This record gives sequence, C-alpha cells and structure tokens, in this order.
Amino acid sequence: MKGIILAGGTGSRLWPLTKALSKQLMPIYDKPMIYYPLSTLMTTGVREILIITTPEDLPLFKKLLSDGSQLGCIFEYAVQSEPKGLAEAFIIGKKFIGTSKVALILGDNIFYGNGLEKLLKDNYQPDGGIIYGYHVNNPKRYGVVEFDTTGKAISIVEKPDEPRSNYAIPGIYFYDNEVVAIAEKIKPSSRGELEITDVNIAYLKRERLKVSVLDKGIAWLDTGTFSSLMQASQFVQVIEERQGLKIGCIEEVAFKQGFINAKQLTKLATPLLKSGYGEYLMNLIR
Ligand code: TTP
Repeated sequence: MKGIILAGGTGSRLWPLTKALSKQLMPIYDKPMIYYPLSTLMTTGVREILIITTPEDLPLFKKLLSDGSQLGCIFEYAVQSEPKGLAEAFIIGKKFIGTSKVALILGDNIFYGNGLEKLLKDNYQPDGGIIYGYHVNNPKRYGVVEFDTTGKAISIVEKPDEPRSNYAIPGIYFYDNEVVAIAEKIKPSSRGELEITDVNIAYLKRERLKVSVLDKGIAWLDTGTFSSLMQASQFVQVIEERQGLKIGCIEEVAFKQGFINAKQLTKLATPLLKSGYGEYLMNLIR
C-alpha cells in the first residue's frame, strides 16, 4: 500500500501565520505539523509516500523530509496548484499510486491513542474503502456519517447545516485501487472542489465502504484555527512531558517499525542533540 499526505490548501483561517509559510510546517509543540500525519502513515506500515503541496511550499517540504531514505522510506513530491479539493489527490497521484492500494491523510490531522496502531495496521490492505466516524461536539464543519441501528453507515453528507449525527469523518482514508477511477469521474461541488465525500458516497453506493467508529480513547485533533493549533501543541506537550514519550516522532516510528537500524538512528539523532530531541532518540537505542 502507498500513502499520500495532502499538505496544500490556503490555511486562510490561520492568516497571517500562514501567509508566508505552509500550515503543515507550523510547529505543534516540538515538531513540524506534518510529522504527525507522516508518523501515522508510517505506523500503518506505509513506506512509499507522496507529499502533495503548493508550488511555493514544495521546496520547504523537500528541505525538511528529503527523499525519505534517511527514514527507510521513499518520499515523492507533487504540486497542487490550487486547492481544488481532497479527491484531487488521487488524480495528481495517479501515476504514483499505479496499481497499489492507497491511504490518504490530511497534513493537518493528528491522531493519538491506545489501540490506534492495531486499528491502522488492520486496514493495511483495504478491499473497497475504509473510513472512520468520530464523535464530535460540532460536526457541521466536516463530512458527517449517519448510521442505522445496526451500526451500518447509511448516509454521508459534506458540511451539513443540520447534521444527522455527531459522527464527523476524520482526515484519514484507506482505499483499494478503484479510488483513482472514482475520483476521475466525480464532478466539482458547488464550492468548486472535488469532494472526498463524493468518493466515499460512490463506495457506499456500491456497498464497498466500511465505516468504523473511532474509540473515544483515541484523540483526533485538527489544527486549522488559532485555538485548535494552540490546543494541539498543549495536548502534545502535556502527554510528552508527563510520559517522557514523544507523539508523532517519525525517527522513532522508523526505528520501531524496523525501517532503520540503530546506526541510522544515531546519525539522525546527532544533529538534534542540542534541542533534546536527539537525546530522546539516543535513549531509544540505549
Ligand atoms: P482545510 O482545512 O479544509 O483547508 P485549508 O488548509 O486551506 O484551510 P482554510 O480553510 O483555513 O483556508 O484543508 C484540510 C487539509 O487538506 C489541509 O491539510 C490542507 C489540505 N488541502 C489540500 O491540500 N488541498 C485542497 O484542495 C484542500 C481543500 C485541502
């Protein structure tokens, strides 16, 4: 399975913060935002990852993450010239995806919690589409999924005025290879975007969509506003300082997944010793 991180967009709800710098490069406590979704994909076992971003931001992502070999991965880069919707990722990434299955994660979504790793690994080879529902206070800003009494998903609506449930769809999606053909067929919505919700509806209509409810023990944070950006940083700081363990640490995930060995991890840690980040990596080896 291959992975795509969608890290374009305008980030206008964070202006002026994001006028000159991509939202997904903003700090979430001790690391750039994109580390979190990247570590989530790597935890799933995905090593070949396409990072899609704006033409202006692409060189910065390359500077940060290079070709991925330092993490035992392969990173490729592609441009989305305008934010024409999440489903465009599969059209931009068509060649990269080839005949593989694909996981898409949004560059500003953070997942953390007990059982997450198993849940992600279970979806490594999706047959059809696999998405999640997460109980939130105000689902209006998201795609919203409605379940029947047996727990089967029966409707999905993008940003509804009157949501039929409190279950928002978080920004991580797993699909078989058919997703490319589906994305190529859908038409832009009234707001001019190729909607991921339309992709999910197409799978739902074919009865090939599995919607699992994310346990309340799993935290799903998005970081699109000043307040949620700050809350995400505080969340990470509280957990990391209390436990002495990092969240979203791509070097750690690469090591624990066996993508890199102790020698390679030491090489990554050495330039980071001054900040304490490198010391944490060295302790993983000790
Ligand atoms: P949004 O938060 O919906 O959009 P945005 O990041 O442009 O922010 P704002 O609403 O403040 O202007 O996007 C969710 C994620 O998806 C985010 O990581 C950016 C990314 N994205 C793209 O890469 N391309 C797109 O076409 C869209 C719509 C979003």
